[in-house]
Amino acid sequence: MILSKVKKIKKNVYFLLLLEGSKHDRILNMEKKIQELDKKIAEAHLGGGEKRIESQHKKGKLTARERLHFLLDEGSFEEIGMFVTHRSTEFGLEREKYLGDGVVTGYGTINGRLVYVFSQDFTVFGGSLSETHAEKICRIMDLAMKNGAPVIGLNDSGGARIQEGVVSLGGYADIFYRNTLASGVIPQLSAIMGPCAGGAVYSPAITDFIMMVENTSYMFVTGPNVVKTVTHEEVTSEELGGASTHSTKSGVTHFSCANEIECINNIKALLSYMPQNCEDDAPSVPYESPASEKRPELNNIVPENPNQPYDIREVINGVIDADTFLEVHKNYAENIVVGFARLGGKSIGIVANQPAFLAGVLDINSSTKAARFVRFCDCFNIPLLVFEDVPGFLPGTDQEWHGIITNGAKLLYAFSEATVPRITVITRKAYGGAYDVMNSKHIGADMNYAWPSAEIAVMGAKGAAEIIFKNEIAASKDPAAKLAEKEKEYIEHFANPYRAAERGYVDEVIKPEDTREKLIKAFGMLKNKVDKLPKKKHGNIPL
Ligand code: HXC
Repeated sequence: MILSKVKKIKKNVYFLLLLEGSKHDRILNMEKKIQELDKKIAEAHLGGGEKRIESQHKKGKLTARERLHFLLDEGSFEEIGMFVTHRSTEFGLEREKYLGDGVVTGYGTINGRLVYVFSQDFTVFGGSLSETHAEKICRIMDLAMKNGAPVIGLNDSGGARIQEGVVSLGGYADIFYRNTLASGVIPQLSAIMGPCAGGAVYSPAITDFIMMVENTSYMFVTGPNVVKTVTHEEVTSEELGGASTHSTKSGVTHFSCANEIECINNIKALLSYMPQNCEDDAPSVPYESPASEKRPELNNIVPENPNQPYDIREVINGVIDADTFLEVHKNYAENIVVGFARLGGKSIGIVANQPAFLAGVLDINSSTKAARFVRFCDCFNIPLLVFEDVPGFLPGTDQEWHGIITNGAKLLYAFSEATVPRITVITRKAYGGAYDVMNSKHIGADMNYAWPSAEIAVMGAKGAAEIIFKNEIAASKDPAAKLAEKEKEYIEHFANPYRAAERGYVDEVIKPEDTREKLIKAFGMLKNKVDKLPKKKHGNIPL
């Protein structure tokens, strides 16, 4: 009996030791596996290797991961697809694989708000886009759509992975398709931080905003060599498609940034005005009203002489919350100013004619610039504020032959279909068709204010007098004096806001100093506005 008990105990001890041994082995095994994992993570973090990272830094560029480090809240980045590699076996590619395959993808937060990100890694095959690289980007975009959060793409790529041929082109198309479906559903922001050439440019082009970094980034459909062969033009990459070119001449980029950090900070600032998706409200920051919202300095901006320019930014900055204006497309089509701001803590989009540039006239570029901005604000529930001082549309063969009719109509269309709260303040001129186009009540604006300096008429007094008093002037002994007399008559008749106010086209003529208070109240009154467009598949904006 005792013997059998001893035997049993021995057996149990033996089993316990065995168990302990295998547990110990398991721990050792796990440690080994964790070490293996750490090694792989370290390998992925190195991208194309130290030498290429060094070369990236020498060009004044950060790496894909460094960029994400500066963009996202500390510790918030969660990577997806770190170990993905390409599947190509052509041109010896099966022997050259890098974990992540040239793009770092995942999600994180910016000022506590969820964003999805992809950051192309130039150190891996020049950041070129392979089948799997494209799949990683698509996965991020799909997640962003399902979860209703912005996508931010940091682009630094030599374009299609040449060794993969059509498979890479297919990958691009998969991205373009998603960019298009996501348009108007979630904000999409693109930063160009290196090359972006060939068809690759069309993904950023479909997104809502593009930022470029000066001197280290460029975008073009065909590079300088092809340009030289086809058109015999000699041009550098920077001249052809650098940040300065695209922020001034083409308008392709909305922001030109002095360096990558400025670019990243601009992304964060821009996001702070946007909701997470089209069903979300525009964000606001806490605001405590002071005893008075009067801004007496606004009374002294519009000059006595109606032909004298002034900077509409003075009006904008005088009305909005201090230091909140983020101008978009600052150096492109400067005759119109657009950008985001806060009014009483709430996000608004501003569109303003700029009398200090081409007298604030509407032309092709200013119309398309403003139309695109209005449509963005409307997609994402950002109320619109318009400051109007416009002498009309720019005349001339250049404008007519390049389609001022179609392009001007874009702005008219964009305002007309916008259902967000919309308010206009006419500071001075509101002439001709431009009066209608610039968010008039006739095309759906909710409130229209005018300053006492407003002139609302079909055209300027001189031109009007020359036409309607043509015969009288011609018959006069002193035609110049007659013209001056008739011009004065016309000014007295129309160069004021009261004719429009009599009709109710202008809701109220206000003192400039009261503008801010009026606008805060009116936007507050409109905050629950519901307006629906007629049921349709989609409209047909004159493209
Ligand atoms: C595969 C590429 C690559 C590409 C660069 N690399 N571009 N690998 N496919 N598209 C690799 C290089 O072989 C090199 O590898 C590394 O990336 C860095 O490239 P470098 O030439 O040394 O760098 P740099 O001198 O800075 O010049 C960058 C560059 C140049 C201007 C982007 O690499 C270039 O011109 N690449 C080709 C661009 C191109 O034609 N792409 C296709 C466009 S058409 P190692 O091993 O040396 O580090 C297109 C169609 C899309 O994209 C259509 C969508 C509809």
